[in-house]
This record gives sequence, structure tokens and C-alpha cells, in this order.
Amino acid sequence: TRVLILNGPNLNLLGTRQPEVYGSETLEMIEDRCRRHGTTLGVEVSCFQSNHEGALLDQIHAAKGTHAGIILNAGAYTHTSVALMDAIYSVELPTIEVHLSNIHAREAFRQTSYISKAVIGQICGFGSFGYLLALDALVQHCSGKQD
Ligand code: DQA
Repeated sequence: TRVLILNGPNLNLLGTRQPEVYGSETLEMIEDRCRRHGTTLGVEVSCFQSNHEGALLDQIHAAKGTHAGIILNAGAYTHTSVALMDAIYSVELPTIEVHLSNIHAREAFRQTSYISKAVIGQICGFGSFGYLLALDALVQHCSGKQD
């Protein structure tokens, strides 16, 4: 079983980007932890990051048939992208939305998520631990579905 962890714009800058908001770990460190956690859960984790909305859309499309589910931190596209929402609906793969920060406790414009409409659930406010929680939740969700 394979799971896709997809990160959107500016998340390549984690580690140096507003560490007081997003923590001091780099994306590479977070992805490594996810891969290792995936191994303990018996799933293969593939990771992709892009600053380009279209590239994220292409990855979501390509995940259909190759991955059992998606963990998505769409960054600022969370609050703007109808196209990402539509893509998640289109591929019909269980998707979990993750944010490092608690978007509901921040500026009003971050409190709306188009992604939320299309996902099975959202995890936010737990920093990078949220990705591991999402992996647990996704594996649990998928195992509940199969016989
Ligand atoms: C974020 C929250 C978004 O509002 C912001 O634009 C990001 C990161 C988070 O992980 O907390 O880029 O998705």
C-alpha cells in the first residue's frame, strides 16, 4: 500500500520560514519521519512538494490507481484553490488535510479551507506531528474499508 504526502507552496522553506509559527524542522526531516512511520504501519510513503498549483493537481491525478490515499498540506492554496478541491473530488481517494499551525486561530482569511470540503478530515495545530497523526488516521480509514 502506498500513501502520497503532498506539500504545497513555501513548505520547501520549512526550517527557516517563520519558525515561531511553523517549527524548526526542515521538510526533508518531516518527510523522513513520515517514511519511517509509514514503515512501522506497513505502508510505503511517497513525498512530493511543489510551489505550483498545476504540479500539485498533476500529482493528485497521478495518485489515482497508484496510491491508497493522500495527505495534503496545500499551504496558502488551501484558502484559494477550487481546482485542488475539485481534483480531490475527482480522484475519489481518501485525503486528509494537514496544517502545521492552527489555521482557525489565525487571520480570518486562513479560517476558510476549500480543501476541507473534499477531505475525510483535517488535522491542524500540532506542528509536524500532524503528518504522523494523519498517517495513522489514513491507514485506519483504509483498513476499515477493506474486508
Ligand atoms: C499552512 C497554513 C497556511 O495558511 C499557510 O499559507 C501555509 C502553511 C500550515 O501548515 O500551517 O503555507 O498550511
